[in-house]
Amino acid sequence: MDFSEKTVVVIGGTSGINRGIAEAFAASGAKLAVASRSQEKVDDTVAALKAAGAQDAIGVAFDVRDPEAVAEGLKQFYDAFGDFDVLVSGAAGNFPALAAEMSVNAFKTVIDIDLMGTIHVMKGAYPFLKRPGASIINISAPQSYLPYEGQAHVCAAKAGVDQITRTLSMEWGVEGIRVNSVVPGFIEGTEGAKRLAPTPDAGEALRKDVPLGRWGQPQDVANACMFLSSDLASYISGTVLAVDGALYQRGSGKFGQMMGQMLRAQAKARS
Ligand code: NAP
Ligand code: COA
Repeated sequence: MDFSEKTVVVIGGTSGINRGIAEAFAASGAKLAVASRSQEKVDDTVAALKAAGAQDAIGVAFDVRDPEAVAEGLKQFYDAFGDFDVLVSGAAGNFPALAAEMSVNAFKTVIDIDLMGTIHVMKGAYPFLKRPGASIINISAPQSYLPYEGQAHVCAAKAGVDQITRTLSMEWGVEGIRVNSVVPGFIEGTEGAKRLAPTPDAGEALRKDVPLGRWGQPQDVANACMFLSSDLASYISGTVLAVDGALYQRGSGKFGQMMGQMLRAQAKARS
C-alpha cells in the first residue's frame, strides 16, 4: 500500500493497536498526526513514526472528553498537513466491573471516553476532511454486539460507536466521506487484552474461543485499516468489519461468563 502524500490522523494512536495502525501507515509513507492524553507518549510515538518511514509526523496531547481541546488539536493538524485523507478514532478506556458494583461515574467515564470521545473526534475533524475521498475508521470492539459479563459499560459505549458509524456513513456519504468501524478481536500484548484476561488461564480460555486458534496482532488490524482507506475499498462505507479470527461466530463463549464468575468471587471475598 502506498499512502505517500496522504494525511493520516490517529486519535489514541500512542500505544497498543492504534499505535500499530499509525506505524503501518507511517511505513507506507504517509504524513502522520497522533493524539492522546500523555505528552510523553505522544513525543515517543512521533519519534517512532518518523523512524518507521513517515513522510512527516506530529502530535498533540488532549483528552477526547474535552470537545474544545479536540477541535483545537485537530485544527493544528490541519494547519500543518492540510485536509485529512484518513481519520482513525480509537481512544478508549476499559476495566472489568459488574454493573451492580461499579459507580455511576465509572459507567459514565467509559461512555464519555469511548462514545462521546468518538463524536467529539468526528465532529472536530469534520471541517478538515477531504471531500470527496476521506476515510474514517472508528475502532470498535466485540462488546458492540457480544454481551460479556463485567462489560456493560463497554458494550453500551461500543454499540453506540457502531451506530454512529452507520448513521454518519449516510449523513456524510453524500459529501464523499466514507465511515466504517473496525472491530479488533483479542490482540496480543495490548492493554485491553491484559485488563480482560489478566492471568495466563484467562488468556488461554480466550484464545481457545477463537476459531482461528490464535491471538490477533496489531498488524492484522492495521492491514484492515489500510485496505478500508485505499481505493480498493472506495465503495465500502457504513460497514462494521470484524478482524477477529471468527470470534464473533462463537458468540460470547465461556469467556463472557468467566469474567462474571471471577468478579462475583472477588466481590464475595471483599464482603
Ligand atoms: P491502549 O494501548 O490503552 O490504547 C488506548 C489509546 O487511547 C492510548 O493511546 C491512550 O493514550 C489513548 N487514550 C485513552 N484514553 C484517552 C482519552 N480520554 N483521551 C485521549 N486519548 C486517550 O489500548 P488497546 O488495547 O490497544 O486498545 C485500542 C483500541 O482497540 C480501543 O479502542 C479498544 O477499545 C479497541 N480494542 C482493543 C482490543 C484488545 O484486544 N486490546 C480488542 C477490541 C477492541 P493516553 O493514555 O496517553 O491517553
Ligand atoms: N473498577 C470499577 N471502577 C473503576 C475501575 C475499576 N477497575 N477503574 C476506575 N473506576 C472508576 C473510578 O473509581 C471512578 O469512579 P468514582 O469517581 O465513582 O470513584 C471512575 O471509574 C473514573 O476513574 P478515574 O481513575 O478517575 O478515571 P480516569 O479518567 O483517570 O481514567 C480509566 C479512565 C478508568 C478508563 C483508566 O483506566 C484509563 O485511563 N484507561 C485508558 C487505557 C485503557 O483502558 N486501555 C484499554 C482500552 S480497551
